[in-house]
Parts: sequence; C-alpha cells; structure tokens
Amino acid sequence: MMAKQGGMEDGRRPLVLQGAMTVETQDMVAALTEVQEEPLGHYRCVRGLLAGYPVIVCETQWGMANAAAVTALVIERYHPCAVISQGTAGAHNPALHNYDIVLGARTVNESAWQSQYAPQGAGIDPRALKQLGVFAWNEQAGAFTQEVYHQGDAALLAAAQRGAADYQQGRVVTGTIGTCDSWNCEVDRILFLREFYGSDVEEMESDAVAQICLNFAVPFLALRIVSNSVFQGDEDWDLAVGPVCQQYTLQVARAYLSQRGDKQAGTETVESKGQQANV
Ligand code: 5AD
Repeated sequence: MMAKQGGMEDGRRPLVLQGAMTVETQDMVAALTEVQEEPLGHYRCVRGLLAGYPVIVCETQWGMANAAAVTALVIERYHPCAVISQGTAGAHNPALHNYDIVLGARTVNESAWQSQYAPQGAGIDPRALKQLGVFAWNEQAGAFTQEVYHQGDAALLAAAQRGAADYQQGRVVTGTIGTCDSWNCEVDRILFLREFYGSDVEEMESDAVAQICLNFAVPFLALRIVSNSVFQGDEDWDLAVGPVCQQYTLQVARAYLSQRGDKQAGTETVESKGQQANV
C-alpha cells in the first residue's frame, strides 16, 4: 500500500534513516516491523515501525546529488519529523580509527570554494582558496543564504550523545563531518582539508542532506563511522563497520522517538502541523 500523498495514512510523522549502500541500510530495515517497500523511483525506500514509531529507511546510493534527491522526495512524500544520514567515512582526524563514530555537530561541503586568479604556470595553491558555502533556506533571514557550516539538530545530537557510554567498539566523538563527491587518499591533502574546514571525517552525502533539510525546516543529524584512515597504515575500507553504525543509529532513533513521545511523533498529524517539522 502506498503512503497517501502528504504523509503517513495515520498522519504520524516518521523519522527518516538514510544510508548510501545496502551494507549501510539492511540492518535498519531488518529492525523494523510491518515493513513495506515504497521505492522512490529506483531508490530503495522502506517504511515500517521501530518500537511502534513510524520510520523510513532510504538507500540513497553514493554521492551528494543522489542523497539530496532522495531527501527532497522523502520529505515531500512523508513530511518526516527528522532525518538522519549515517554510514561509513574516511578519517581526517589522525586520532580516529576504524569503528570510531563521529556525531555531526556540524557538516560542511568541502567542494564549495573559490580559487584566486593565478596565471598559467603559476601552479595551484590550496591555501589561497576562499570558502564559499552553499545556499540553504535561512528562516531568520527569510531568504536562501550561503553558509559554510550547517549545524546538526540539538535534540538529535543530544540523543546521539547519550548512546556514547554504551558503545564498546570504538570512541564516540562530536565533531565536523566534511562532504564532497571525492575520496581523498593523499595525507597532505587530507591534513589541508582538516586545517581548512576542521573536519574529522570525509564522506559523500551528509552536508547535501543537511542543505535540503534546512530548505524544508526538517531537523537533521549526520553520524558517521570511520571505515578507513590514511593515518593508520592506510587502513583498508572496512565495510564491516556498516552494520555497527546502523545499530548505533537505531539506538539514537529509539531514544529520539521515545523522547518526542506520543505527543510529537506518535499523534501529531500532518494536517495539524503542515510542513513545520521544527517543533
Ligand atoms: N571518502 C569519501 N567517501 C567515503 N565513504 C567512506 N569512506 C570515504 C572516504 N574516505 C562513503 C561515502 C560514499 C561511499 C564511497 O562511502 O559517503 O557513500
């Protein structure tokens, strides 16, 4: 059965959980009851219940455009109460190892910069770059404004931080998640990006999702598990971390949804709140 246009049949606002790959989504789907496949075009989109609360799991595929498209479509169809982008990432912070988790206090698009003019043969100088940021809706300004960083939602971040004490497989840090359609392997380039943006990890989706969530006033959080690091003997891309990040995310989802409770995620209707998800 398809969701009716404009939300769930019972008016409840689901929590959206995203991952780019099957290894980043299948355990979240397996945790749901009353599962229904409701694809968004060719993107996998699954609805179900987590501890009785409506949840949508989306498999975005790699990259910013895919993740942004899925986010816009899922917001339009389900009017979610919040969106979490999670999955694997590469370390920018030399102290991080595989299985460490970064909770996104903020995300940043690391491809949004302008270089200064230099003539042919002058070479390239990354330190001469100027940060540009990307345009997202700014409620206070009543306009799209260009911002370099996008803050994670405070309530989602607090729920994610509460899970840190129980996490046994690595460290949990709160930090900056850098997004770009690139995979960097040069140590000096990674150190430069960390210096320039303050990023702890890099991946390919989160800030694009943050941008779209801002445009529709939907609370957003990114959380990422380190799956590779050029600082740790060039640790291979360990996809075994994917299910671990999903379990952490499910715990965050349960904490967030139970805290919102029946008043919010349980009985709040699309009709009563419309598009204003920031309640
Ligand atoms: N750089 C960029 N993306 C990475 N990912 C994991 N590690 C990295 C890395 N070092 C994630 C991206 C994308 C896929 C390639 O895995 O978010 O979905």
